[in-house]
Amino acid sequence: MDRVFCGRVAILGLGYIGLPTAVALATRGIEVVGVDVKPDIVAAVSRGEVPFIEPDLAVGVSGAVAMGRLTATTQTPEADAFIIAVPTPFNGDHSADLSFVKAAAEQIATKLRPGNIVVLESTSPPGTTEKVGQWIGALRPDLKLPGSGSNGADIFLAHCPERVLPGRIMIEIVTNDRVVGGITRQCAEQAASIYRVFAKGEILLTDAASAELAKLVENAYRDVNIAFANELSLIAEKLHIDVWEVIRLANRHPRVNILSPGPGVGGHCIPVDPWFIVSAAPEESPLIRTAREVNDRRPHHVAEQVVTKARRFVAPKVACLGLTFKANVDDIRESPAVEVAQLIASALPDTEVLASDPYVDSLPAELAASPKCRLVDTHEAVDEADIVVLLVEHEPFRALHKTRLAGKVVYDTRGAWR
Ligand SMILES: NC(=O)c1ccc[n+]([C@@H]2O[C@H](COP(=O)([O-])OP(=O)(O)OC[C@H]3O[C@@H](n4cnc5c(N)ncnc54)[C@H](O)[C@@H]3O)[C@@H](O)[C@H]2O)c1
Repeated sequence: MDRVFCGRVAILGLGYIGLPTAVALATRGIEVVGVDVKPDIVAAVSRGEVPFIEPDLAVGVSGAVAMGRLTATTQTPEADAFIIAVPTPFNGDHSADLSFVKAAAEQIATKLRPGNIVVLESTSPPGTTEKVGQWIGALRPDLKLPGSGSNGADIFLAHCPERVLPGRIMIEIVTNDRVVGGITRQCAEQAASIYRVFAKGEILLTDAASAELAKLVENAYRDVNIAFANELSLIAEKLHIDVWEVIRLANRHPRVNILSPGPGVGGHCIPVDPWFIVSAAPEESPLIRTAREVNDRRPHHVAEQVVTKARRFVAPKVACLGLTFKANVDDIRESPAVEVAQLIASALPDTEVLASDPYVDSLPAELAASPKCRLVDTHEAVDEADIVVLLVEHEPFRALHKTRLAGKVVYDTRGAWR
């Protein structure tokens, strides 16, 4: 019978990944202490509130806090298991910025006792879990670390990447298959015991580096496929052919499944993770690098198209519908929609840019800096605009009545109004 964990868990990082994981464990009876460096996040979670929007998370947090299973603090406590879910952005040269992971590992190091489990959930380049061990070892020479050659170890160290889809996190955190890569087999088995508490998907045990690369490969695969669709969109535009029609027809082939073009690739994962592969093996990854470049170029292309359309007007107003990085979430991190609006605003300084997004209640800093950019209600944006640019296919935008768009120049970058 596979072991199921039943101790106390400390989760470092109460963001889009750490907080749902905390709820998944706490609502199944595990005592969870959430740790975050931001006091406002800790205060919100302590009140049973969620500092961002994710379906079904709010009810989970308030329930777990009310039951006394979930508490939050800025101080890393002692625990039986530690899960690291801190950000892993990239540096200017596209290498991974592991400073948050290192800080979390060092916070944990001082609290570790023999028998503890440490799981790195943050998306990381191959070798990072091993580095976590080295950072811990530097502060705790008294502990025997896994993989250090001698038999047995005082702590268990593993990587368990997260592959949930924002907007469906609370469902997928339970139903997805999980990859658990240990520094040793015993580490993987110990870490898997934590996920058995709530995971209904299969738990696949492997080594830490394979788990790290598998996660990066998943997102690089998505990125390359999106780049293909985006490149098709450019080709079709040049040839005056409707790309959506071409994709619809091509996808009727039994072994073809082309994704949708769009204004670019955003969020915390897909535009970031492929660079970790490129950085680890630059000579061997021209396709992955080119896909990144194709997708990064998209917001510029979309903005250029809008600027060209705007030339037909004297003092045109441009409505930019959608600011988040994808539909039906409130996350604007690395959002290509924000970049498009910003590029339009700076290319056309005398043009009013009317940004609208039902999930965003204040202009992102990049746009607030443009004096002619305003955040307005969707109907106001559409009614006032000469050019309507659909950047994110939020449900309310899809449902917009076509008559509202009559007489406007419409640029639907998502194919939502076809
Ligand atoms: N968001 C997603 O959909 C998603 C999906 C899969 C994987 N991931 C990966 O999961 C990791 C976390 O992503 P996220 O979206 O939850 O990030 P996030 O920014 O939403 O949350 C991270 C939290 O960690 C906190 N933090 C930073 N340093 C800390 C420290 N030393 N100790 C305690 N807390 C600290 C931050 O204040 C923040 O609240 C990243 O590696 C990301 O790539 C994210």
